[in-house]
Amino acid sequence: MSGGENIVITGFMGAGKSTVGELVAAKLERQFVDMDLVIEERFGLPIPEIFKRHGEAIFRTVERGLAQELSTQSGLVIATGGGALVPEDMRDLMGRAGKLICLNADKAEISARLSETDNRPLAANWQALYEQRQSAYARIPNQIETSGKTAEAVACEIVAMLDGRIHVRTPAGGYDIWINQGILCDINRHINALGLDGHVIIVSNETVAPLYAEALASRLPRADIIAVRDGEAYKNLETVSSIYDEMLALGADRNTTLLALGGGVLGDMAGFVAATYMRGIRLIQAPTTLLAMVDSSVGGKVGVDLPQGKNLIGAFKQPDAVLVDTGVLESLPPLQWRCGMAEVIKHGLIARPRLLDPENWEKANLVNLLRQAIQVKVEVVEEDPYEHGIRAHLNLGHTFGHAIEKVTQYSVPHGEAVAIGICKAARLSRNCGLIDAQLLEKVISTFERIGLPVDIELEPEAWYAAMSTDKKWGAGKSRFVLLKALGEATVVEGLPKEEILAVL
Ligand SMILES: NC(=O)c1ccc[n+]([C@@H]2O[C@H](COP(=O)([O-])OP(=O)(O)OC[C@H]3O[C@@H](n4cnc5c(N)ncnc54)[C@H](O)[C@@H]3O)[C@@H](O)[C@H]2O)c1
Ligand SMILES: [Zn+2]
Repeated sequence: MSGGENIVITGFMGAGKSTVGELVAAKLERQFVDMDLVIEERFGLPIPEIFKRHGEAIFRTVERGLAQELSTQSGLVIATGGGALVPEDMRDLMGRAGKLICLNADKAEISARLSETDNRPLAANWQALYEQRQSAYARIPNQIETSGKTAEAVACEIVAMLDGRIHVRTPAGGYDIWINQGILCDINRHINALGLDGHVIIVSNETVAPLYAEALASRLPRADIIAVRDGEAYKNLETVSSIYDEMLALGADRNTTLLALGGGVLGDMAGFVAATYMRGIRLIQAPTTLLAMVDSSVGGKVGVDLPQGKNLIGAFKQPDAVLVDTGVLESLPPLQWRCGMAEVIKHGLIARPRLLDPENWEKANLVNLLRQAIQVKVEVVEEDPYEHGIRAHLNLGHTFGHAIEKVTQYSVPHGEAVAIGICKAARLSRNCGLIDAQLLEKVISTFERIGLPVDIELEPEAWYAAMSTDKKWGAGKSRFVLLKALGEATVVEGLPKEEILAVL
């Protein structure tokens, strides 16, 4: 891969920009440019000396000039200095000619890496600088977490990202999420690349199958289609059992691959079938709703409902691949789009403030939007695959939201309930002094802008009662995911009833 847009790698000092950049350049057979090294050559001095003799302002001017030069070239892998892309116009400048990638590392990791090489001019006061630069780094479209990873692993992740993949590490290995327009047209290549046996059973529903299943099957040498009834009401053991029957009739064996083609309902249910049929067969998730793309198809939670409650039966079943084809969203009803956006905003609020930026919601940016929203889910499930800790943050707004669904007997769609729920969680965060009024206002206006509701008339006592039966409230003690800052959530337990009623 030579020519093409530059790959610009940035991040805080110690994040590994130079080492990783060099590895990426070698893998892609591209020319590597380390901006700090170029500047050192031009001055004939090491960076600390440039800072000492000429001052930071001069250094920044030269850096800006170099950025301008490099932006007129293409096909480079560029490692920037840690401060280079902090000014917005510098990000714009380099972003126009290249793909910006930010390497992140937590403070402990930076501290360990810096102690090895501490001749950097700004290293002495790095902790304050780290905080100061976070919001600028957060605005870079592609983020890669490097803590605990080798430079080689990070370089591989970048190369994967360039061809539209996000790799997910799981306790048993890992899988790739492919995100692009038209990815399903390549289904045969994916099946072959995964080394799967030819027989594929596409499980879909009566709405989605007529739209996409035939075309998909026609691209595979041996495929069958099973279409079940559409709706949460059919996400149950009866439907699962009917799928088992059809699979047996179709001669499915342990080498068969199940391809789940549909929204979250279908993906959860078909995933459960794949987890249990003959003690488990291979699974490909092909999500077709925005919600399923950014949330349910990633992370391995599969299951069905019982009459007593939602998702009471299930398993962890990691897919072999997730194929996110943005093309299928063209047929998605607007309500489903808005509901999916509620989860996208949730991901933005807990980890990626950029997702709240309406610029990123434009159709032209769809692949990027999905990539970033999915990345949040990936980071959370990699850290907490079995939902013992941080995965709880994905429940932001859901305690309020599930209760709305229950009280209104599911007449309010999940995404709308979540939007209202997140607004309530934000208000509670504000009342607890965790966030300021400005952030609360931002949360509310973001949902309004999407066309999602931000409040509902419900009897507070009934709403509270529905929340207090939440399976996550241990021993009657309230438990909420609240906001601590834009991009940061926290779990708060034991809030008194009056405080909760106050926001209802
Ligand atoms: N496993 C997890 O981690 C997880 C996470 C979040 C939600 N979920 C589950 O996801 C489910 C909700 O998923 P959902 O919001 O995708 O709902 P859904 O699957 O019911 O899909 C919504 C509607 O859109 C239709 N549809 C799907 N794709 C379409 C397309 N491309 N064009 C036209 N119509 C299309 C569906 O047939 C359905 O009628 C719930 O059951 C929830 O429990 C699971
Ligand atoms: Zn949800």
